[in-house]
Amino acid sequence: MRVPAVQVPVVPVVVASVAADALIDIRDVTKTYGHGETAVHALRGVSLRVDAGEYVAVMGSSGSGKSTLMNILGCLDVPSRGEYWLDGSNVAGLSEDQQALVRGRKIGFIFQSFNLIPRTSALANVELPLTYAHLRRAERRKRASRALDLVGLSDRADHRPNQLSGGQQQRVAIARALATGPRILLADEPTGNLDAHSTDEVLGMFDQLNSEGRTVVVITHEHDVAARARRLIQVSDGRIIVDEVTR
Ligand SMILES: Nc1ncnc2c1ncn2[C@@H]1O[C@H](COP(=O)(O)OP(=O)(O)O)[C@@H](O)[C@H]1O
Ligand SMILES: [Mg+2]
Repeated sequence: MRVPAVQVPVVPVVVASVAADALIDIRDVTKTYGHGETAVHALRGVSLRVDAGEYVAVMGSSGSGKSTLMNILGCLDVPSRGEYWLDGSNVAGLSEDQQALVRGRKIGFIFQSFNLIPRTSALANVELPLTYAHLRRAERRKRASRALDLVGLSDRADHRPNQLSGGQQQRVAIARALATGPRILLADEPTGNLDAHSTDEVLGMFDQLNSEGRTVVVITHEHDVAARARRLIQVSDGRIIVDEVTR
């Protein structure tokens, strides 16, 4: 059915600087490592808006700037130029301490190599980010146990990372990312070290977390991992060259 054209009156509109539901809003961000002749332009002007509840995959060849982008999105690093509005506040200019606070409250990270602390139990690993949350010990334990339960590893709470399979270690890392109740999950090649079965487990978990309303941004080389997201962003040489809704 053709919808008849409607005459929309042209009214001057004052556009708010940030749309209400944009959780992530970066504008013309550049990142340069080093100076002068040896400078590396890792990001060359990236603008990206991600609304709450989205599931986004970021792809691109090695060295294209994906991890740099993730580090900036996750407040692990600051842009050289440009703005970053996270949940309505400008975080591009924050001090390192302020960034750490924002990170702790809003973002959970998952890395390719799990980044668990060796010789420390699964439960203690999950509890770690809560150490900075001004909670009583008992409350920290409770939250960490709940997060381990969410990823189906309650029965491995006392195991150390080297007593767990790769897939289980990544699930501990997911529990750790969830412990603080972040709205955003950022994952950098989360299945890069996993076999097909563990990859499925981890991706199933992302699907579930996203369906519960968490915003998920996953960086990957693998097309079947990217296919689980609903939006695909392709980065090449420090620029976004594709940004499309995939399903
Ligand atoms: N800390 C750093 N110092 C200098 N150059 C870096 C640093 N981190 C990344 N780079 C460079 O920036 C570019 C983008 O890197 P990165 O974001 O890690 O890409 P990707 O994750 O897509 O492989 C690469 O050329 C890389 O060598
Ligand atoms: Mg990378």
